[in-house]
Amino acid sequence: MNMYNSGNAERPMLFLPMKYLEEVRGARSNVMSLPKALDQRAGLDKIGGFLLSEHVVSVVRLAMTRALTQLTPEVNDKCVAAYKEFMPPCTEWTEVNTMQLILRIWTRMISHVIVGAELSQSNAWLEEMNLFVPTCIKAVFSLRNGYSSSTYWLARYTNNDIKAIFRLRSRVAKLLEPLLRDRVEAVRLRTQDDTGRKKIDLHADAIQWFVEEYTRRGIKPTADQLAQDILTLSLVSLASTTATTLGVIYDLLDRPDSLLEIKQELKQSFGGMGDKISRQALSQLIVLDSFAKESQRLNPINQISMHRLVLQDHTFKDGLRVPAGTDIGFTNEQISKDSATWGEDGDKFDAHRFLRLRETGESADSRAPMTAVTHDMLPWGTGAHACPGRFLAADGIKMMVLNLLFMYDVKYPAGITSRPKNDDAHLTMGPAAKMPLLFRQKGTYGFD
Ligand code: HEM
Repeated sequence: MNMYNSGNAERPMLFLPMKYLEEVRGARSNVMSLPKALDQRAGLDKIGGFLLSEHVVSVVRLAMTRALTQLTPEVNDKCVAAYKEFMPPCTEWTEVNTMQLILRIWTRMISHVIVGAELSQSNAWLEEMNLFVPTCIKAVFSLRNGYSSSTYWLARYTNNDIKAIFRLRSRVAKLLEPLLRDRVEAVRLRTQDDTGRKKIDLHADAIQWFVEEYTRRGIKPTADQLAQDILTLSLVSLASTTATTLGVIYDLLDRPDSLLEIKQELKQSFGGMGDKISRQALSQLIVLDSFAKESQRLNPINQISMHRLVLQDHTFKDGLRVPAGTDIGFTNEQISKDSATWGEDGDKFDAHRFLRLRETGESADSRAPMTAVTHDMLPWGTGAHACPGRFLAADGIKMMVLNLLFMYDVKYPAGITSRPKNDDAHLTMGPAAKMPLLFRQKGTYGFD
């Protein structure tokens, strides 16, 4: 067991051995809480109301997941369009900051799901999204460095970084207001429709899902409430997916044989591209899936998983006592490289590790896919809070990789021969974000 928290030295965190995982996984939310842990760690609730409330989680877990089959081809179209929009001209090898590129592309894709076809494509929305995460990070540090729990309430009136995030939230609310009005009206009309006809899904986007969720839960549907919830969704989905995608790209550049094998798999599945991208087709990319999961196993972007705030004094079955107010978690990297689970080569990249598991493992279907939630690696957490966005995230990563390989050649810049050291900060461990890669547009698109 270990106490340390590089993210916030004033709030040490208890890192638990794996034997406690089952108990933490099964703990009731009034005993151990994820949203309260995140709020304590970052104070996001105090700097803009960005809280993983039940209705936010429910929208992702139920409505979004149900809509994925319908949305996948549309999200793929946004991916292709975003590559064309954000990739600079590159008929010759051209340096591009890949983290920024992928972030913009994923923003367009995820925004299609979150705010719908129209707003997601507007530059006003993109500008707010580009500002959002950096503004949030600044605000988190200002809150942490300048205030204590008794003065948090003052922060939004006195600190410029925190004022900035509230201003951003108001601007986002203004962008959402006309859409919200239309959707509230649509839900009202639909509720009035008692003809017994099958209810149509009016809009497959999170604005619609939130309005329905507010109606069910008796929450007042204001533009400000919607802005908080939409921004919370953006926060949990943007950085994690972008960083994981960049990690996969670096790992592919390090392994030309795997790159070739994956291109062959893509060629077989999507030789002519066109309108063939579907959830079903993506689920058949098992070589890419195995590769991306191995990339995630060796470089989990969160250093800790199952972060919980203990709300009541708790005694584990073996007698370990943890007082209320303790932050607890499990260290991702140690778990996912543990030689007891992964064998002597547990710290080596094996592109076929999960492919073999699919073919030979006794629990082939449940452990091998990238989206599997298991106890031998915890990139998505586990239990009641296991990431409900992982299906969209995994599909999104595959779409970004396959469209990149279809339209561009990519390589490291001169002097770089392998994946650079990860950026390591505040309990996250993202792939090096500043290093550019070289891109060249293909004369003829394809997976050759
Ligand atoms: C590669 C990308 C992603 C990673 C690595 C990731 C990882 C995680 C992890 C570790 C948790 C906490 C689980 C726990 O402590 O038990 C979580 C929760 C969550 N994630 Fe993700 N996530 C990703 C993408 C997404 C996306 C794209 C969305 C939404 C569209 C999303 C929505 C959520 C939500 C709503 C929760 C809270 C669940 C709850 O409290 O029950 N995530 N995610």
